[in-house]
Amino acid sequence: MTTVNAYRAAILHCLADPADAAAGQAHEYFEDGLLVIEDGRVARVGPAAELLPGLGDVPVTEYPDALIVPGFIDTHIHYPQTGMIASYGEQLLDWLNTYTFPTEQRFGDPAHARQVAEFFLAELLRNGTTTALVFGSVHKASVDAFFEAAQTLDLRMIAGKVLMDRNAPEGLTDTPESGYADSKALIERWHGKGRLHYAVTPRFAPTSTPEQLALAGQLFHEYPGLYMHTHLSENLKEIEWVKALFPERTGYLDVYDHYRLIGPRSVFAHGVHVCDEECARLGETGSAVAFCPTSNLFLGSGLFDLAKLERHGVRVGLGTDVGAGTSFSQLQTLNEAYKVMQLQGEKLDPFKSLYLATLGGARALYLDDRIGNFASGKDADFVVLDYRATPLLGYRLDQAKDLAERLFALMMLGDDRAVKETFAAGRSVHRRA
Ligand code: GUN
Ligand code: ZN
Repeated sequence: MTTVNAYRAAILHCLADPADAAAGQAHEYFEDGLLVIEDGRVARVGPAAELLPGLGDVPVTEYPDALIVPGFIDTHIHYPQTGMIASYGEQLLDWLNTYTFPTEQRFGDPAHARQVAEFFLAELLRNGTTTALVFGSVHKASVDAFFEAAQTLDLRMIAGKVLMDRNAPEGLTDTPESGYADSKALIERWHGKGRLHYAVTPRFAPTSTPEQLALAGQLFHEYPGLYMHTHLSENLKEIEWVKALFPERTGYLDVYDHYRLIGPRSVFAHGVHVCDEECARLGETGSAVAFCPTSNLFLGSGLFDLAKLERHGVRVGLGTDVGAGTSFSQLQTLNEAYKVMQLQGEKLDPFKSLYLATLGGARALYLDDRIGNFASGKDADFVVLDYRATPLLGYRLDQAKDLAERLFALMMLGDDRAVKETFAAGRSVHRRA
């Protein structure tokens, strides 16, 4: 028997990248809209007045003063770092040694991993994020715990075990062979199960030997649909270190390129300091970069040059990068993204921002046939945003003259409080108290 439900509110979703589409063609907006969900998938979206008469006795949930948008997509985040978000005072390499590695050491304990995975997923959903590309820790058990929790909620999630066989404390390293074997076992167990996908996850070039990177590259090509997830050119000292460790390579990206770690479904976090040649290579290979503004500001890494990456046709998604990032909220991440662009004399308009957090993220992950907007047949992952979440937001929106202004204010002022309800595969998975 099919289950059909309908949701009535203002509804907005992206149809294309605003940079590519004719003015006004990049999104679709229904002031009084209806989203019809059938068996966890989008059946139809349109004006309520047109769709309601044909609905028969389908239950309709109404949300006054609310905006329904597709579930947010976080293209870079670390679940084991949830407990160390907001750790003071260091830039990347010292931050890793002082805070990150000691925190990740605890994830060999399956009970701890399970508890953090459940908290982490609840936090994503509280913030309206329904899909994320997620780092585990080096421990295989960390990824089992994560996927078990994601499967229970029927979420579309991508994750992988960190590969790291040097330049990290004892107890937090694997070997080329054990990293390969553990990853392979996780792929066999989880990849393609329900809505789960696996990402081969070398932490970054400095923590893997050439032997490990070679095996990672091999594994990446062994199964269809696998992801590759790592960090790239985030911090200037990191880049110098990579040059010293791999003197025979022409640059940081060339290390990954040499070991066959780039291409479609390769996602590189940060890319703050990539040069034009690297951008061109990322673009021509169909690789993606995760723009993580709160993290780049917090760690003092630098300003992400979105315009440069886009000139080279690089797919760009939005990442929170918790725990270097300071918020799980994509709205707050877009707030910081706007400021990063302002500091470079560039603008980030609210429709482009929504694109980055939804359809653009889906495109970066090659999942735009499944998620990212309300095209018929896509997964019914969506968020109900509350225009009256806080007194200030409500007051500001009362002054707004159009949708663009409302959307922008929502991004500047909104956070988890603005998320009234989150749905994954048509089921309510978070409702604000
Ligand atoms: N580079 C290598 N590991 C990490 C990490 O955990 N966080 C960030 N932001 N950068 C990294
Ligand atoms: Zn990261």
